[in-house]
Amino acid sequence: MIKHSLITALLCLLAAPAFAQTTIIHAGKMIDVESGKVLQDQYIFVEDGVITNIGTKADVKAAKKDSAVKFIDLSKMTVLPGLSDSHVHLTSDGKTHGYKTLGVSLPRATINGVMNAEKTLMAGFTSVRNLGAPGFADIALMNAVDDGDVIGPRIIPAGRSLGITGGHCDSNLLPHKYKDKAGGGADGPWGVRTKVRENNKYGAKVIKFCGTGGVLSTGTKIGAQQYSFVEMKAIVDEAALLGLKVAVHAHGEDGINTAIRAGVDSVEHASFISDAGIKAAKERGTYLSMDIYVSDYILSEGEEAGILEESLAKERTVGKKQRERFQAAVRSGVNIAYGTDAGVYPHGLNARQLSYMVKWGMRPVQAVQTATIGNATLFGMQDKTGSISVGKFADIIAVDGDPLADIKELEDVDFVMKGGVVYKD
Ligand code: ARG
Repeated sequence: MIKHSLITALLCLLAAPAFAQTTIIHAGKMIDVESGKVLQDQYIFVEDGVITNIGTKADVKAAKKDSAVKFIDLSKMTVLPGLSDSHVHLTSDGKTHGYKTLGVSLPRATINGVMNAEKTLMAGFTSVRNLGAPGFADIALMNAVDDGDVIGPRIIPAGRSLGITGGHCDSNLLPHKYKDKAGGGADGPWGVRTKVRENNKYGAKVIKFCGTGGVLSTGTKIGAQQYSFVEMKAIVDEAALLGLKVAVHAHGEDGINTAIRAGVDSVEHASFISDAGIKAAKERGTYLSMDIYVSDYILSEGEEAGILEESLAKERTVGKKQRERFQAAVRSGVNIAYGTDAGVYPHGLNARQLSYMVKWGMRPVQAVQTATIGNATLFGMQDKTGSISVGKFADIIAVDGDPLADIKELEDVDFVMKGGVVYKD
């Protein structure tokens, strides 16, 4: 409560959105994610939430004559664009898995979403794709954030994840007499088209479907393809008619290859992607969103959180292999997104995966690029966010150390601005 009123007071002080005030940020060092270079002493001009100029000392002098100008001194810090996560589940948390999830009502999940949205933003993540939520809760969350009622990142919500009957995106915990069925369940080309249309009707901004079994679902095989090519193609075609991109959950080779051929925009997990799969993704510009941190959490904290032995056993076969395939993907130069599956582990720790990406073959600046301009491009938002450039939203973060020397600096973000509003200082 106290924290909330403090934040509200801060926002009122700092945001002042009612009139076009200019804010100038003095960035001691700024990571230009487009060139991959670090620039010294940049002056970022922000007006109405948008970057209007990246100026010189002379511009600052001229602006100083206007007493309404507000200065933010980050001269001792490294400034970079707000980070982005292409795969989160804001309505879930890391401590509720397996049968424990049955005790979480939709309203409770939504409240979790409110809390997790704030944690995510405070960790420096100014945009996220929410790849699946019950009851369109993520769409309500997006609206609440956009309306300024909830503190959180920009949210691109998927609504309900599409999945085959009994597949990874269905609810398989209970016996038949309970008639439990996930909201996104759909079979056949027309069944999936209807589901895509429904998601669109209720406000989804991306379509997510499950193209193979998964680790955390009961009774599914990670290697087994789910949906035929015809169904996957129907999902992608229908989404295209509605102007929506498509993300597929896929661990096994066959599901991955078929989904890439059907034209998905990103493959989530991609754990067992083959060389041929990487090649196909590269040719088509498909992004790989490989969550190479979460395995450590699942195997150390998972049991306590309720993850079933069946799932732990599956995870033991995935973690290392996925990291090796990530390394192969990095070497190939295929598009890589920054997706973590936060929600399986606690929100706000989204940056933990960065050091894993560096350990498994990326230069620090490359890892930062996946989580900024890379994701923005995957989201189709590269004109609005993803770099500190004139005309884009002022989604800007800063840390006191040098993240390109030690990527873990980004696990402790000191300054967060989203759309010109300071949320953490
Ligand atoms: N949601 C995913 C699933 O259940 C999590 C996979 C996590 N494991 C991993 N190594 N990335 O399949």
